[in-house]
Amino acid sequence: MVNKVHTESVRRKYNRVALIYDLMETPMELHSFNKYRKMVWQHARGKTLEVGIGTGKNIPYYPVNATVTAIDFSERMLARAKKRKEKLNAKVDLRLMDVQQMEFADNTFDTVVSTCVFCTVPDPILGLREIARVCKPYGRVLMLEHVRSCRPLIGSLMDLLNPIVHGLIGTNINRDTVQNVRNAGLEIIKVTPLWSDILLFIEAKPRK
Ligand SMILES: C[S@@+](CC[C@H](N)C(=O)[O-])C[C@H]1O[C@@H](n2cnc3c(N)ncnc32)[C@H](O)[C@@H]1O
Repeated sequence: MVNKVHTESVRRKYNRVALIYDLMETPMELHSFNKYRKMVWQHARGKTLEVGIGTGKNIPYYPVNATVTAIDFSERMLARAKKRKEKLNAKVDLRLMDVQQMEFADNTFDTVVSTCVFCTVPDPILGLREIARVCKPYGRVLMLEHVRSCRPLIGSLMDLLNPIVHGLIGTNINRDTVQNVRNAGLEIIKVTPLWSDILLFIEAKPRK
């Protein structure tokens, strides 16, 4: 069941940072983060769902002729995505929706994509179970996510800093998203480390 209090608190934080989100992301872009976005989207096929679209930074990388539906639970982040959609004349169908409780029928999508979302979703297992539910049996789940480092010193530092980061922007920097994917009933196909053991490209599929 969705924890409404926690969910509302994270949603409010994203509404608050929506205006400056793209500015906050600039350092990542300077480090070629966009090449990873592009790489992830090259694997998307068929009817595709993007969860946690944020301000729409992935829109330029959507495959040509793709049918994309995208959701976010922050109306202000979604409003920014709408502006980007209009600017780029993109076809994406934007919906205000919580990934922990989606309105889509079972087995709706061929591909589900998340980029830097499961550090944030209040109950990641619930969100990932929902993804497993709406993804078709032979569909793919593509995730570009940052996770807790396995290296003892760095991992401990991430644990130490996490309450501060979470308090400010609602993001967790010490989640074990690969294990969360497994715990939610998805099967890992491949995990590709992109930046040390912190930024990962996770490919998974439903166990149906
Ligand atoms: C760190 S931002 C990443 C945005 C975008 N994916 C990107 O790569 O730039 C996380 C996004 O996930 C959204 N989000 C977090 N929890 C969510 C939930 N339960 N349902 C839908 N969206 C959620 C936030 O509102 C925010 O827009």
